[in-house]
Amino acid sequence: MTLIFATNNENKVQEIRNTLDDSFEIISLKEAGIHQDIPEPHDTLEANATEKSRTIFDLKGMDCFSEDTGLEVAALLGEPGVKSARYADDEPQFADNIDKLLDKMSSHTNRNARFRTVISLILNGKEHQFEGICEGIIAYDRSGTGGFGYDPVFIPDGATQTFGEMTMEEKKQYSHRVKALAKLTDWLKENKNKV
Ligand code: IMP
Repeated sequence: MTLIFATNNENKVQEIRNTLDDSFEIISLKEAGIHQDIPEPHDTLEANATEKSRTIFDLKGMDCFSEDTGLEVAALLGEPGVKSARYADDEPQFADNIDKLLDKMSSHTNRNARFRTVISLILNGKEHQFEGICEGIIAYDRSGTGGFGYDPVFIPDGATQTFGEMTMEEKKQYSHRVKALAKLTDWLKENKNKV
């Protein structure tokens, strides 16, 4: 099965290719010849995921999926959430986003946070959504240089290291995106001949 994955983030493409077996061919936006920016104008992950997959489907008429992820911090009442990519500035900058997060968290002892991923799949023109959650805490300082985004300051429950200190294989055991993908692939295995 061939699916366009509505992202230009190479880390995410690699994570997803690593997770799915050979029966899935994942094509990135670039590989699909789509060079435009896909809008994320809404105030929920669900609505942004839908917007992205609908945009690709309308352009190419092919089965596709998109995902939108946010870091939801309890002490910040769910911030940065849907604004995770552009928390510090309109231009997405991982380093500035982490600086702002650590600054806002400096007076909080409740460090609970979670990554939440929403996947929107469009198969034969019909949308289906899947959610994956990874609970954890925000560290007081950065550790590690692996991964991307908030990885250097997020420690998933059950781990002692940040995502930034883990290999991709280690991160996969906890990853919100992998959990949402597992739901997507289970669903596809069960339903791809029925829809
Ligand atoms: P996106 O809109 O799904 O790309 O995610 C929004 C932002 O959330 C990204 O720019 C990253 O800052 C952050 N993010 C998403 N997934 C992860 C992850 O697995 N680790 C760390 N940060 C992430």
